[in-house]
Parts: sequence; C-alpha cells; structure tokens
Amino acid sequence: MTDTLTVRDDRTGKEYKIQIQDGAVKAMDLRQIKASEKDFGLMTYDPAFQNTASCKSRITFIDGDAGILRYRGYPIEELAEKKNYLEVAYLVLHGELPTKSEYEDWVHSVTYHTMVHENVKKFMDGFHHDAHPMGMLVGTLGALSTFYPDAKNIFDAESRNLQIYRLIAKIPTLAAFAYRHSRGMPYIHPSNDLGYAANFLSMMYTPSPTTKYEPNETLAKALDVLFILHADHEQNCSANAMRSIGSSHADPFSAAAGAAAALYGPLHGGANEEVIRMLTEIGSVEKIPEVIAQVKDGKRLLMGFGHRVYKNYDPRARIIKKVAEEVFQVTGRNRLLDIALALEKVALSDDYFIKRKLYPNVDFYSGIIYQAMKFPSDMFPVLFAIPRMSGWLAQWQEGLLDPEQKIARPRQLYLGSPERHI
Ligand code: SDX
Repeated sequence: MTDTLTVRDDRTGKEYKIQIQDGAVKAMDLRQIKASEKDFGLMTYDPAFQNTASCKSRITFIDGDAGILRYRGYPIEELAEKKNYLEVAYLVLHGELPTKSEYEDWVHSVTYHTMVHENVKKFMDGFHHDAHPMGMLVGTLGALSTFYPDAKNIFDAESRNLQIYRLIAKIPTLAAFAYRHSRGMPYIHPSNDLGYAANFLSMMYTPSPTTKYEPNETLAKALDVLFILHADHEQNCSANAMRSIGSSHADPFSAAAGAAAALYGPLHGGANEEVIRMLTEIGSVEKIPEVIAQVKDGKRLLMGFGHRVYKNYDPRARIIKKVAEEVFQVTGRNRLLDIALALEKVALSDDYFIKRKLYPNVDFYSGIIYQAMKFPSDMFPVLFAIPRMSGWLAQWQEGLLDPEQKIARPRQLYLGSPERHI
C-alpha cells in the first residue's frame, strides 16, 4: 500500500510529494529538499534510531503497546508451551517450523558440531582466573573465526549453513568452558545423547570427567523455555551490531563476537546480572520505598524495568514468572522473588513508572531463576547469548541477502570547527 506525504519547505516555498510505504518514508527521498542548489539536501537526525527502521524484516514482530511478541507469526506463548528451543531456532532461521525429517537432520547437524578445536581450550586457559565469562565468550567467538576461514564464503548457502550449525552448536560449549575455567575445573565435553539445554547443564555441572551426571529434567526443560524466550527480539542493540558488522561482509563468527559485545552492556543483556545485584542490595521488602524514591530522584535505574519498544508488560516476563514456580519446586524458593514481586507491585502503582510506561522486561525475573539454578550472576549475560545466537544469525543472513542493503555507514550532523589553519 503506497500513499504520499506532501511537505512544504518554508525556506523556499516549494512543496514535495514523498511516498509513504509500509508506514514509513524513505530518508533518501528527503534529500531532494534543498534550501539552495549547493545544499546537500535534508537528512533525518535520529540518535539511537528511536524512530528509524534500519531494515525490512520477516523474522520477529513486536507490538510494544499491546505487549505482543511473535517469531515468524507464531505467538511466543504458544512456542514456549508447545515447542523446544531447537525447533524455534529452526523456525527463526528458516521461516517455518521443521518437519519431522527436517528436525531430525537439524538436531543431528547441531549435535555433531558441539566440539571445539583443542586449541580453543589453550585460548580459554589464557584468561585470568577471575575473567568475566561474558568477556571470555566475546573473545572466543572472535577466535573461532580463525579456526574456520571457510566462514568468509558468506554468499555460499552451504557454507552459511555450516557456520550456522557451528555457532549454534558451539556457543553452549564455549559458555560452559568459560564457567569451568573460572572455577578451575576440568572442561567437560559435550554429550551427543543429551538435548540442547541438558547438554549445556551437563557441561556446566558434571563434577568431574570421571563422574556421570544426569541433569534434572525439570531444570533442563525450564532452561529450554528460557532459551525460546531469548531467541530473537527484532532490531535490539546486539542484533543491530550483528547486522552492521555483517554489512561489511565480515564472517559470521566475527559478527557474532561483536553482537555478544553489545549484549554484554548493562542496559542490554547485562541487565539480568544487575537485577540480582539490585535485589540483593535491597535485601528486604521494607527497603523498597527507599529504592523507589532514589529511582524517582533520578539517582538510579530500576534494573529489569523499561524497554525501548514494550510500553506494556514484556510477554516474556509473564512466561518467566510461571517458569520460576516450576524451577522452585526443584531448587527451593529464591527469596529474591518475594522482593521482586513486591517491587513490581509498588512500581506498577506509582505514577513515575505509569507515566513512563515502565514495566518489568525479560531481565527482571530471569536472573532469579538462573540464581536458583545455581548459575553465578556473571554467567547470566552468557545465558542470554546462547539462545540469542539463533536470532543474531537469522538477522545476519536476512540482512546479507536483502538486495536493498549495503554497508552500514550512517551520516552525521557536523557541528565542529570550520576550516582553520595552524
Ligand atoms: C533487553 O531492545 C531489546 O529488545 C532488548 C531486549 C532483547 O530481548 O534484546 O528486550 C533485552 O535489553 C531488555 C532491557 C534490559 N535493560 C534494563 O532492564 C536496564 C534498565 N532499563 C533502562 O535502561 C531502559 O528502560 C532501556 C535501556 C531498556 C530502554 O531505554 P530507552 O528506550 O532509551 O528509554 P529512555 O532511557 O529514554 O527512558 C524513558 C524515560 C526516562 O525518563 P525521563 O528522562 O523521560 O524522565 O524512562 C526512564 C528514563 O529515565 N527510565 C527509567 C528506566 N528505564 C527508563 N527510569 C528508571 N528505571 C528504568 N529502568
């Protein structure tokens, strides 16, 4: 559907008809609006892209006001209830849920790419004993690009699929190795007869290479649901990084390292670690009014609250609250949940939050579950990165194959010194 926008430039009195398509105008159509012949033409100024679509996408749909999230048209609630993470990863990447045979091939391909080159262990061993596991993950993802030079064949579909298997299969291995390194424990190899989430728990928590360890089924299932909820989220900060790096035709391992670096930030995937720090600091329900006052005075953010797109309850947070109860049946209740629930109740009835449409986001409750599952808080952003790898790769591939895309290179408004001489 195309309509038009008629704009009048009061500097010249000239009028312009701009095409409206899919609810947007093309920024390049504004360049014809000039104050004089020498004028470069009108640009849009949009720091942090608050009102700029950088791409056309068919992967994830979010209606922030209604609190709706769909992967390839399927509501997140249905996928979380009826599918497993690898089925959802396939959907996000290929656009359709896999048939039985497609699923079997997919699981086989991922299962048989979980091992990493032995030299990756030497690279991992080089980190300091107290290195943050997310920093180790960013480093090792980048390092993997040196093990797979064929990943540079980005326009060969077969090569792209091979790198996609490798990255989805190996990120749990790298994540678990980072944890084991930080604990001075021997690395546990992936096991081919465990599901995706269970295999990760096994590589994390098997006491030693000499002991058998059966991951708890309820916890593995809960983790698998959490992986589904984190698989993709349209043009978030790390997906934008993935697309931008991919637009220079860098290999997907290097692009994924950049995306993981973006996710590491406390305003993005690092928020779940900050939420636990905040809830622990609050310590008791009695201290909540003091914290709310600090937030309203602009002295701090309420971590795990607010979202660029959701101006309603993050549907993922709603599902995570349900998963928490299942996990606590096994692990025992995490008392931080009581503080979180009380904090949410107070915040959602306070005008400061209501006016700004600040609701709990995916990070507000996920850390409470991870802590109950005995993950250290510095592993929380790593737990976000594992499933988001499928979303990053889907966004990367869609951008690479989009004929309207080219290398990402924004303009600027130059307000610096005019020419001057020494
Ligand atoms: C994720 O993009 C994605 O989809 C990300 C993600 C994904 O799946 O990839 O959903 C995952 O990153 C979730 C967000 C996790 N981050 C946090 O929980 C950190 C705390 N949240 C804030 O930093 C903030 O809400 C952001 C970064 C999430 C969104 O910031 P915006 O869209 O830039 O909003 P803003 O900073 O312009 O805030 C608008 C107003 C401001 O107040 P005023 O200046 O208008 O008075 O709301 C206030 C902000 O100060 N505000 C908050 C707040 N978040 C916004 N005030 C207190 N606590 C907060 N958390």
